[in-house]
Amino acid sequence: MKLFLDTANMEHIRHGVRLGVVAGVTTNPSIVSREGKVDYRKLVQEICSIVPGPVSTEVLGQDARTMVAEAREIAKWAENIVVKIPASLEGVEATSVLAGEGIKVNFTLCFTLNQAVLGAGAGAAFMSLFVGRLDDVGEDGMAVVADIVEYLEYYQLPSQVIAASIRHPQHCLTAAKAGAHIATVPYKVLLQMIQHPLTNIGIERFRDDWRKVMGREELS
Ligand code: G3P
Repeated sequence: MKLFLDTANMEHIRHGVRLGVVAGVTTNPSIVSREGKVDYRKLVQEICSIVPGPVSTEVLGQDARTMVAEAREIAKWAENIVVKIPASLEGVEATSVLAGEGIKVNFTLCFTLNQAVLGAGAGAAFMSLFVGRLDDVGEDGMAVVADIVEYLEYYQLPSQVIAASIRHPQHCLTAAKAGAHIATVPYKVLLQMIQHPLTNIGIERFRDDWRKVMGREELS
């Protein structure tokens, strides 16, 4: 499973890229708004220039014609841009048009297998299933991810499932078990993923044992 960062914060993205494990970035209007009143295009282009993979950014239009027009403009911003189109009926139409033009679409705000069937049929390169928001309303978000993965595999469809709306490290491991192609994680969750108290205790114990016998901190 690949990891994407779900943020528009440059500092966090730079750190993720330095770690060498961030294969892409996803944003949406709420995420971009968290960075204040920014120059949208400039910020997205800056993200695209440092991320070694797809960078998703969303349209605001609600009808297919506006979505397509916005997406065509956004697609010119950088080579690794992916346009997020919502999983509405208008979004299905827009996705079909854009995929036909070779513009990569991330079919977003997906909550059901039926929506994913339509997104994959329209030619979306990625489909974002909002796991946390489904869990919030008492449904099992990751079960839907597993269903979509199974569906795509069965029919040998090329769309990739992004487990999105990830809230905690448990979501990351269940996404991996469900076979999600990608999990897009908030920066905080990326930092939490590495944490285990036994690792910290182990590191300290190795250093203590070495110090006691060798009488120094360094290897040589
Ligand atoms: O990737 C989608 C994500 O940004 C939504 O997250 O926590 O607002 O449901 P959340």
